[in-house]
Amino acid sequence: MSLKIASAVCLSAVLGVSAADFDAGKLPPVAAKQGVTYEKDIKPLFERSCFKCHGAEKQKGKLRLDSLEATLKGGSNGAGFEKGASAKSTFVASVARLLADDENMPPEGKGKPFTAEEVGLLRAWIDQGTK
Ligand code: HEC
Repeated sequence: MSLKIASAVCLSAVLGVSAADFDAGKLPPVAAKQGVTYEKDIKPLFERSCFKCHGAEKQKGKLRLDSLEATLKGGSNGAGFEKGASAKSTFVASVARLLADDENMPPEGKGKPFTAEEVGLLRAWIDQGTK
């Protein structure tokens, strides 16, 4: 996949909007696990699939995901999620690969995609208040 300038701009536009156009009914269910935290549950997933482009070395879209603070701050278009509202989150939709091809994260072939269970865990983290 070639990420053209135009699609990168489009990606920012889409991921930055909180009520984007995706079918929330297709999101994997929220994980039942309680006490989900960034450090314990979410950071290892980001480390595996996202740090390469959103960590110490590179900050695509001005986004870092390697600390809780940076994740909550978000990139040039904000965080892409609101506490308690995982079903409306473009961030979640992008890792669930429900957006347009170029807008899903990690980009096609550029890292390990989240499993349905991992998307559910990310949803639980958001719904439980992003601790
Ligand atoms: C191979 C590189 C790469 C990987 C890996 C990657 N991304 Fe991205 N990401 C990008 C690029 C490129 C952009 C677009 C930047 C732009 O539009 O300026 C982007 C943009 C984003 C944005 C929008 C930032 C903003 O505010 O504009 C989010 C959110 C995001 N990525 C989340 C993730 C998540 C979550 C993961 C891991 C599951 C991930 N990315 C993995 C390359 C990557």
